[in-house]
Amino acid sequence: MILTTILVVVGFCFGGVVADSDRCCHYPISTTTINSANVTSMNFKCVEPISLKCQNVNSGVVKKIGIAGFKDRSDTSKYTILSVSEEELVEKTMICSPSTMWHLEEKPEDEYLSFSCAYMLQDGTWFFQ
Ligand SMILES: *[C@@H]1O[C@H](CO)[C@@H](O)[C@H](O)[C@H]1NC(C)=O
Repeated sequence: MILTTILVVVGFCFGGVVADSDRCCHYPISTTTINSANVTSMNFKCVEPISLKCQNVNSGVVKKIGIAGFKDRSDTSKYTILSVSEEELVEKTMICSPSTMWHLEEKPEDEYLSFSCAYMLQDGTWFFQ
């Protein structure tokens, strides 16, 4: 009886979580990214596409810019650099797929939980902001 109750409660909660995440995505841009996104985390509602602009404002220090994709929000040591550019500006659109992961519009097969602007220093190391 107690076991049945526990199973029902657990099943109910799990079902609720799945149903919820089916509908909405988490805001995908790291809060330390100072560059502009056209939808802020405050204005983000559910699944709408977001455009992120990353700009190289100090080309003496920063050699290349890009957008980094993360599969684990709390571990930024695991990243993939997407859209590397030696131009001054990178602008990409992020789309939330039905699985609630995000991808860049032009790379639907590569899914991530979050993104941030990425800057490559002259020595080849990347930092994210
Ligand atoms: C943000 O940019 C994307 C891609 O261009 C666009 O689809 C979306 O409608 C824009 N959102 C707003 C609120 O302007």
